[in-house]
Amino acid sequence: MQHRETGPQQPADMPSVRFRPMRLEDVPDVMVIEHESFSLPWTEQAFRSEMTLNHFARYLIMEVDGAPAGYAGMWTVVEEAHITNIAVRTAYRGRKLGERLLSELLDTAAALGLERATLEVRVSNAVARSLYDKMGFREVGIRKGYYSDNNEDAVIMWIDLEHRPLAAEDTEGSV
Ligand SMILES: CC(C)(COP(=O)(O)OP(=O)(O)OC[C@H]1O[C@@H](n2cnc3c(N)ncnc32)[C@H](O)[C@@H]1OP(=O)(O)O)[C@@H](O)C(=O)NCCC(=O)NCCS
Repeated sequence: MQHRETGPQQPADMPSVRFRPMRLEDVPDVMVIEHESFSLPWTEQAFRSEMTLNHFARYLIMEVDGAPAGYAGMWTVVEEAHITNIAVRTAYRGRKLGERLLSELLDTAAALGLERATLEVRVSNAVARSLYDKMGFREVGIRKGYYSDNNEDAVIMWIDLEHRPLAAEDTEGSV
């Protein structure tokens, strides 16, 4: 996967956004974002195992002005990307960064030759569902009682990687 930063045309007061593979040293920062973002956070050990033991796992860190501002990950399963998590630090939300992060993850999946991507999202997570809908994911079913903390249902979503809509970064160019 290539590293990507905002280009030289970026105005000086715009934050620079960079994507790179997650490393073990990132886990403490990831845990901060994880706890800010999820009622059932993964453990530190879960992230470490993903990076050291799971050869099908790919995780990205999004840095904004050099600081970790979000992460996203997936498992590559034959020709499918199973997205495991995506989160943006609370302070950075609402600036199209989640959109860019998801777009980067989907670009990575497409570059690996994967054909489609799937994820589960809480029925009540209107923000994430809106993001996925905007990115071209379609709701195909429900997993009843998928989340163990409150027995909430998950919406199952899929996207065809070859025919997805253009990402915002392709049309707008900056955060
Ligand atoms: C979901 C998440 C990654 C979105 O990141 P973000 O950087 O805040 O989102 P963006 O600014 O890129 O917004 C992209 C789209 O998301 C949706 N969205 C973002 N904020 C929203 C809000 N407050 N209300 C409704 N929709 C919202 C919109 O569709 C938005 O597109 P628009 O601005 O054209 O309307 C972020 O809110 C997050 O980390 N949430 C906690 C973790 C989580 O729920 N992850 C998903 C698990 S399945």
